[in-house]
Amino acid sequence: MIGRLNHVAIAVPDLTEAIRLYRDVLGAKVTEPQDEPDHGVTVVFIELPNTKIELLYPMGDHSPIQGFLDKNSVGGIHHVCYEVDDILAARDSLCKDGARILGNGEPKIGAHGKPVLFLHPKDFNGTLIELEQV
Ligand code: CO
Repeated sequence: MIGRLNHVAIAVPDLTEAIRLYRDVLGAKVTEPQDEPDHGVTVVFIELPNTKIELLYPMGDHSPIQGFLDKNSVGGIHHVCYEVDDILAARDSLCKDGARILGNGEPKIGAHGKPVLFLHPKDFNGTLIELEQV
């Protein structure tokens, strides 16, 4: 079902400093910050030869990553994103196997303009999994 690793997302408490680290210290290609009001985050992508890193910074008063940063003050790995060909087929198959989908179970449009879903971390070894239809 799952295909390529699309990205690893890292929540950061200071986006400017995180951009500096990846661009100037690690020498990676970094995109411009992009606000995602539907998801309550500002995102920056680090483009690596084989995958991407997504830096997540809270946007607005009810950002879903604020609680994560409250518990992890220096930031940390927030989720991994795997690609799927058909997100509705993937969802239905996972639900049949007892996995829980976060939110209302319907795909939202993610940072790449493609449909995404999140799976409950308790069902996957404590890892928040994002599925993205490519
Ligand atoms: Co993501």
